[in-house]
Amino acid sequence: MNVKIIAVLPGDGIGPEVMQEALKILDAVQKKYDVKFEYRHALIGGAAWDDYHCHLPGETLKTCRESDAILFGSVGGPVREQDTDRWRGVEVNSLLGLRKAFGLYANLRPAKLYSSLAFASPLRSDISGKGFDILVVRELTGGIYFGKPKGRTGDGETEAAFDTMIYSRAEIKRIAKVAFEAARKRRGKVTSIDKANVLTTMVFWRQVVEEIAADYPDVEYEPMYVDNAAMQLTKNPQQFDVMLCGNMFGDILSDEAAALTGSLGMLPSASIADGSFGMYEPGGGSAPDIAGQGIANPIAQILSVAMMLRYSFEMVEAAEAIEKAVEDVLNDGYRTGDIWQADGRKVGTAEMGDRIVKKF
Ligand code: IPM
Ligand code: MN
Repeated sequence: MNVKIIAVLPGDGIGPEVMQEALKILDAVQKKYDVKFEYRHALIGGAAWDDYHCHLPGETLKTCRESDAILFGSVGGPVREQDTDRWRGVEVNSLLGLRKAFGLYANLRPAKLYSSLAFASPLRSDISGKGFDILVVRELTGGIYFGKPKGRTGDGETEAAFDTMIYSRAEIKRIAKVAFEAARKRRGKVTSIDKANVLTTMVFWRQVVEEIAADYPDVEYEPMYVDNAAMQLTKNPQQFDVMLCGNMFGDILSDEAAALTGSLGMLPSASIADGSFGMYEPGGGSAPDIAGQGIANPIAQILSVAMMLRYSFEMVEAAEAIEKAVEDVLNDGYRTGDIWQADGRKVGTAEMGDRIVKKF
């Protein structure tokens, strides 16, 4: 029997309740396929604070290290409590800590507009009506997020703060390869996002990506400045298949692309290391304002399970079956509040999970 150990990190806010639905679908997967999942729960974020006075305890890291993949919920607290020890720096400590600890350099963020949810998109209907399906491939362990030196110096009017944007050839090559490989399995186009008209780092980025592009003559390659890309996303999102970005541009554009789909509650993501290890998490965050009410959309967490099966466990068939089950339930008109429209059938977190399991 094929055993997979999964580190389950529900975290804060809606994390625990949507995680419950993700575990339901995993249980359904192990009933249907020749696989056994072992869940190892661990604390992270604000939820770890009471026991450990730290957002990413050593014990959690150990659990992750002993697992085949991490299924992550969300971290973060209410806005009015941001300036307390419990919540200060919680996202940076938890997320950046895990990314660096496990070398999760390749962040895959699909932004797909489901035809049944086109109404929820902020785009004009003649643009959203054509649908779009974008994969943002974001470099996640380098660039200006981690570049050294960073810090503050001086005082008074000469006090200053600085970060360093730096990318090595090796870092650019490995993330570019991820993007071109992904494009091969999709619609065969990579748009590489840079700011080569201004930044030296980005001149180098474009040069190295071009070298990799030459190894993929079957994939269409186009470089694009980040400001133009931000604009093109709103005017003509259909032109994009894979968007290849450095850490900071990927952070920004993936949120923009996500917003254009109309619901953060639908979007999964994967953060992958070399080999098969990865961390899988919903894109939406902890949504503390609706936590504990049983109304959160569990689809992003469930689709994160599908990504885990595809990228860490080589279970593509099961992954596709989950994605199909989600589409079926949406096509039947079932909606959580975030994607609800007057003619939809409103359901809560648990019922949405149950319906997806039933279609699976
Ligand atoms: C994300 C988040 C994080 C990032 C923050 C919370 C550290 O915005 O995952 O996109 O900037 O990477
Ligand atoms: Mn972000």
